[in-house]
Amino acid sequence: MISINKSINNLKKKLDHNNLPKHIAIIMDGNGRWAKKKLLPRSAGHREGVKRVREIVEECGNIGIDFLTIYAFSTENWNRPKDEVNYLMSLLIEFLNKELETLHKNNVKINVLGEIDALEENVQDEIKKALIKTKNNSKLTLNIALNYGGRKEIALSLKHIIKDLNKGNISIEEVDENLINDYLYTKGQPDPDLLIRTSGELRISNFLIYQLAYTEFYFTNVNWPDFKKKNLYKALIEYQQRNRRFGGL
Ligand code: IPE
Ligand code: IPE
Ligand code: MG
Repeated sequence: MISINKSINNLKKKLDHNNLPKHIAIIMDGNGRWAKKKLLPRSAGHREGVKRVREIVEECGNIGIDFLTIYAFSTENWNRPKDEVNYLMSLLIEFLNKELETLHKNNVKINVLGEIDALEENVQDEIKKALIKTKNNSKLTLNIALNYGGRKEIALSLKHIIKDLNKGNISIEEVDENLINDYLYTKGQPDPDLLIRTSGELRISNFLIYQLAYTEFYFTNVNWPDFKKKNLYKALIEYQQRNRRFGGL
């Protein structure tokens, strides 16, 4: 334990607090493989993964990150066996139930990216409760991407833009990148500065495809249930060594 604390303290010391990402997005992947390696059912990986969510959210708050977006369930994840889908939903309910007080106390504002209308009533109720309770919080915004798909998000925004054009609320001349931003789930938020994906997969799997245009990508072989605070610091330190040019010199 002493050596873990020492190594995390060394990492903390390396962090430049003047060059923090404002927005971190995470594709939490590898729960199933983590469990398989331990000869456990996939559900055990998901359960362990929730513990890391709690720790990483807390640490992002401590560090002073403004926005954290976590990919909890994609529009493609409906293709999984029904039992697994149900288990993931029940874990989400359990997480919100157990953590809402703490999140609220820590001034975390919960936000959901995705089509929540398509979820079971009990899941929707839990989400609504969390959104209402934390709506005036102002420290860390926690975006939970749930039943989220980047292409779906763009299709929906297009639909809403066309509706507003037809109603005369906006004109064609106004349609530009900034206006599109206003029709995304992430309206009003800065784009992610850093994307983390665990488990060694090198793809974005339909996550924030519009918002990631200039994001720095950090891939690690560590499976999500093993992604602890020290791994977050490693990602942040690597991020701080990147030279972001945004097309300039
Ligand atoms: C990520 O872990 C969790 C979700 C997608 C909900 P996986 O369940 O995808 O784990 P692997 O990729 O099968 O190891
Ligand atoms: C991405 O992981 C979705 C979430 C983490 C919620 P997947 O495990 O579903 O991605 P693919 O299928 O390997 O691309
Ligand atoms: Mg996966």
